[in-house]
Amino acid sequence: QPELVSMRDLDVNTVTALIHRAEEFKHGTQLELTEPVYAANLFFENSTRTHTSFEIAERRLGLSVVDFNPQASSVNKGETLYDTCLTLAAVGVRLLVIRHPQAAYYQALLNQPALPVALINAGDGSGEHPSQSLLDMMTISENFGGFNGLKVAIVGDLNHSRVARSDMEVLKKLGAQVYFSGPAAWYDDQFARFGQYLPLDDLVAQVDVMMMLRVQHERHSNDAEFDAAAYHQQYGLTLERAARMKPEAIIMHPGPINRGVELDGALVESPHSKFVEQMQNGVFMRMAMIESVLRGNQLGGLV
Ligand code: CP
Repeated sequence: QPELVSMRDLDVNTVTALIHRAEEFKHGTQLELTEPVYAANLFFENSTRTHTSFEIAERRLGLSVVDFNPQASSVNKGETLYDTCLTLAAVGVRLLVIRHPQAAYYQALLNQPALPVALINAGDGSGEHPSQSLLDMMTISENFGGFNGLKVAIVGDLNHSRVARSDMEVLKKLGAQVYFSGPAAWYDDQFARFGQYLPLDDLVAQVDVMMMLRVQHERHSNDAEFDAAAYHQQYGLTLERAARMKPEAIIMHPGPINRGVELDGALVESPHSKFVEQMQNGVFMRMAMIESVLRGNQLGGLV
């Protein structure tokens, strides 16, 4: 596949193969390049995890990473995203990893004969976040060995969450039972065909995975009214709620965490928490994704 932009495009076999390949990279598999392969990471929204782990994944695969800072680029002179990508492809970049505030920004870049590049979506507004979703699946697979019948609660700022949209899509395909919880104002019918919406106190003792979402203050129009302590008590994973989780249940969070809001800060280092594993797995899953799209665009460079 020359691009990986949405979890809608991935079938179960592809997801399983990516998890398997990511595990191989985690256990030391290396790639050999037959010629230099250049990658550029275009982040038009802030990022720590996704940006750094894509860069480390690229370097571990032997790719050469071209520095690209939107603030210092000709985007500031009005150059469009398409023309920016056309330029990078023309000078020899073969892999573009892009995060952009506009949902489905990548539609303007797909099926363009003048853009012979591999493309990975590193997050499109409130659209999707496939690399986060795949590293989440890798982490769940490592902890439970499979997905069939697994109960996963996705909790919090659902409407603004590209992670929720990508994860619910793939979890349903993989046979997991998805539940949603959080403020009713941040939930709507688009989620209903993927899982049931229930109060957090009804879910916490019965699910295998508590996936807590970040409250996305930057996407809220009325954020001044937000009461962090009240949110934590009503919708957060408090210490009291965490104590009611099944002994083998895990806590996940895509990061960055608002400690004391989505979950009690002390839970980040709890044995239930897989937050650090998620970030570590992100490097290996991104290696698998990069290899997959580079092989898919058949421009050579990989043995
Ligand atoms: N999970 C995630 O996308 O984190 P960053 O915004 O730091 O990349």
